[in-house]
This record gives sequence, C-alpha cells and structure tokens, in this order.
Amino acid sequence: MKVLTSLVVLVSAVKAHYWKNVRQWTGYQSNGPVTSVSSLDIRCNVGASTKSVSTIDVAAGSTLGFTAKSSISHPGPLLVYLAKVPEGKTAANWDGSGNVWFKIYEIGPKFGGSLSWPAMGQTNINFKIPSATPSGEYLVRVESIALHSASGANGAQFYISCGQINVTGGGSGKPTDLVAFPGAYKSSDPGIMLNIYYPVPTSYAMPGPAVWSG
Ligand SMILES: *[C@@H]1O[C@H](CO)[C@@H](O)[C@H](O)[C@H]1NC(C)=O
Repeated sequence: MKVLTSLVVLVSAVKAHYWKNVRQWTGYQSNGPVTSVSSLDIRCNVGASTKSVSTIDVAAGSTLGFTAKSSISHPGPLLVYLAKVPEGKTAANWDGSGNVWFKIYEIGPKFGGSLSWPAMGQTNINFKIPSATPSGEYLVRVESIALHSASGANGAQFYISCGQINVTGGGSGKPTDLVAFPGAYKSSDPGIMLNIYYPVPTSYAMPGPAVWSG
C-alpha cells in the first residue's frame, strides 16, 4: 500500500514539517476550516489549487493511504474524490477546475441511539483506487466535514487537502457523476446544514454525488 506521506492536516492546530505528495495550503499552520461551499477554497483549500508537490505512482486496484498530522477530532463524514488531469496538463500544474471530480470513497455515520461517525478519531484513511480507473495523472481530494455546529448556514467546517497521483495499470472505466468544486455542494444540502444532536437523525444524506465504484 502506498501512503501519501506527511499529508494532510485535517484538523486541529499542527505544523506540517514537510509535504511530499499533498499540496500545502495557505494557513495550514493554524488549520482553520473552509466554511463557504461556493468559494474556490472548497476545492483544495486556501491557495492550494495552484500549489504543487511531487506526484506518486499508484497502481489501479491498490489501496492508497492518507495520513493526517493529528486525528480527526470532529463528528462528520469523510469523502475522497479523484479528478483526471486533462490533456496538456500535469498533476503538478493543473488547478482541478471544471466538472471533473468523481467520488471514490466515503465514510458516513452509524445510527442507533445517537449518531456515531467512524471517521472520527482516525489518523490514517485508506481507500482503494478502483481497478477500472484509467491510467494517468489525477488529483486526489480528501475531505473531512465537521458537523458539530452545522445547524445554521455556513456552520459546517470543511477540512480539505489535495494530493497528486499517477495511476498505473489502469482500466477502461468511465467515471460518472462528475462534479465541480465549487459547485458540488450547496450550503443548504441536507448533509451539510443539519443538527446532528437533536432530534437525533435517523438518516443522513452524504454530500456530493454517489460513489463511483468502477
Ligand atoms: C506515470 O506512469 C507511467 C507508467 O508507468 C509513466 O510512463 C509516466 O512517466 C508516469 N508519469 C509521472 C508523472 O510520473
């Protein structure tokens, strides 16, 4: 398994000492959240759509790991998206614009009594690159959405980082449900503006499109 080393600061104040495959964003030292789903910051975090790092090879069908500098400390879902770098661009110089992002992984809540969020407390998030993913360079967008104060507009907090990968040995799948960031979410989406505590929800609508499984 490849791990995107020294990655993301998903939550709480931490200093990342080096960033190898994940784009450093402005303000990573304080690690404040993005709160506007309509700002460019919702794509790869503040200033990071035009940052670059090194790109790692990942075989289609293999597991990729993403490590946060400290564990995810807030309740909410975890989502992972890919976007294929267009002709004439590389992962290192592409900004991730357009209807290009498809979801490959998500961790939602568990129900019963109160909601629980299995992504909470995790430092390492592992997910599979679908075998059908075509070979080529991609941006990987990992997102932790904190919902502890999400009952009002713009109360949800988005902790996002983008990595750069080169999928090798890929398939001939055609990813579906492509979305743009910004664009994929509305601040009023039922999975983004909600009270997760009372009354205790008995269902939850994951933000964004369905997972493409290849
Ligand atoms: C991506 O992988 C292919 C196949 O191994 C290789 O030819 C290409 O140089 C790689 N690209 C990058 C940017 O690493």
